Amino acid sequence: MSLVPVREPEMQSMEEYARKTNFPIIGPAAGYVCYQLARLIGAKSVFELGSGYGYSTAWFAKAVKENGGGNVHHVVWDEKLSNMAQEHLSRLGYNGIVRYHVAEAVETLKQSAGPMDLIFNDIDKKGYPASLPIIKQKLRRGGVLIIDNILWHARIFDDEDQSPDTEGVRAATNLLVQDPDWIVTVTPVRDGMLIAYRK
Ligand SMILES: C[S@@+](CC[C@H](N)C(=O)[O-])C[C@H]1O[C@@H](n2cnc3c(N)ncnc32)[C@H](O)[C@@H]1O
Repeated sequence: MSLVPVREPEMQSMEEYARKTNFPIIGPAAGYVCYQLARLIGAKSVFELGSGYGYSTAWFAKAVKENGGGNVHHVVWDEKLSNMAQEHLSRLGYNGIVRYHVAEAVETLKQSAGPMDLIFNDIDKKGYPASLPIIKQKLRRGGVLIIDNILWHARIFDDEDQSPDTEGVRAATNLLVQDPDWIVTVTPVRDGMLIAYRK
């Protein structure tokens, strides 16, 4: 028995593509947490930073649709991935919900009209710390921030690893935990998810 319910065939084909090509999607367990959190807060505006070919987007779009409708911003700087996402998400019936941006994600969030109910961050890890002030500005009070790969394949525990990505994950975690405007937890789902509530 699996904790995550069986996905639609289209979602399963997206999972299969990730397996075959080694593309780093969040996967079903983390996707289900994203979906659950978006349902819990009744999210109607979701902004994703680093969307790939739309797998995580599909989980948020499902939640927003079930919450009565709204918008999920899909943002990736690779046009081919954006086109793939449009095909998958259209087949899943999320045409009216997802907005596509082929651009740098933090800059796109900066230029978007907020406030957002939920922001999901999955960009290059060295970019995590610099993204936080913009995220804080655009997320509504009572909103939720989810950051993926917060354990970074356990590299955060290796003192000898001082690569920009590993340092980026460590710095972002420290900044959030020390900021009294956030209630933060780290869950060990898949590669670690940081969940932060904006007070
Ligand atoms: C980890 S993958 C995304 C997976 C996706 N969230 C999912 O679970 O289905 C991150 C994607 O975002 C892109 N990316 C990374 N940093 C970015 C940035 N700052 N702006 C836009 N795209 C970015 C990467 O090239 C890659 O295609």
